[in-house]
Amino acid sequence: MAAKIIDGAKVAQDIRAEVARGIKELQDRKNVTPGLVVVLVGDDPASATYVRSKGRACQEVGAFTETIKLPKETPEAELLSIIERLNHDPRFHGILVQLPLPKQISERKVTLALSPEKDVDGLHPMSMGHLMEGEPSFVPCTPGGIQQLLIRYGYDPAGKHVVVCGRSNIVGKPIANLLMQKRAGANATVTVCHTGTKDLASFTRQADIIIAAAGSPRAIKADMVKPGVVIIDVGINRVDDPTDKRGYRIVGDVDYEPVAAKAEAITPVPGGVGPMTIAMLLSNTLRAAKRSVGEA
Ligand code: GUN
Repeated sequence: MAAKIIDGAKVAQDIRAEVARGIKELQDRKNVTPGLVVVLVGDDPASATYVRSKGRACQEVGAFTETIKLPKETPEAELLSIIERLNHDPRFHGILVQLPLPKQISERKVTLALSPEKDVDGLHPMSMGHLMEGEPSFVPCTPGGIQQLLIRYGYDPAGKHVVVCGRSNIVGKPIANLLMQKRAGANATVTVCHTGTKDLASFTRQADIIIAAAGSPRAIKADMVKPGVVIIDVGINRVDDPTDKRGYRIVGDVDYEPVAAKAEAITPVPGGVGPMTIAMLLSNTLRAAKRSVGEA
């Protein structure tokens, strides 16, 4: 039987509508409009596209938003002083500094400079620590989106063996921490595989749920998964494709068609995890605004 398609675009739309209702309700009750400032350094076209989408999404749900664009030569000290100013700007409940940053700027220093109260990306060590404790303040957007996809499609991770492929700070580490917590929508047995893993297939074959976030095009093949597996593909990889008018095509970390033929459910690329990230950013921004008035 063909796999069920986990439609991230549809779930993201539902979450955006929920956030829009939440914003309206907060405005009516507390006269507070959630605000997000997005900082983009440099002119990477993919980052510029993401940032535009984030700004547009904020406007659609009724959040206040501003984008600060800085040249790629911006010194680290200047970015840090802008963040310091934004930390104290009451119009903004959330600050997002788009990654990656130019090489003269330390991503770690920038993340540490953010006020944890405004860390809607969930990447500050304080947010990471809270997540690890099981008392999350802000869950990073992509892991939060993955968890929502699983819950809303009825694939409760509780008691399941989840195999995460990839150990990045932005996806692999936080999703592993999120799904191992003794909480609703989690409580899974989690294995994390990475570039140091010997015999990856021996782990992925045991998985009830695979979260592929290794950044390696079509690396998860059909003979590496068991029948009935649920697949969450976080990969966004450009591969050459002369038949496409752009000359390239976007593929995930999973060899989609043959794996889909064995899976119970699978996220497409694009249209799976991708749209969820912005939806969760909006949700975190609403949460930050609620926290600023002592709620959430
Ligand atoms: N670049 C790619 N994904 C992300 C993200 O989730 N947050 C930030 N800040 N930058 C990114």
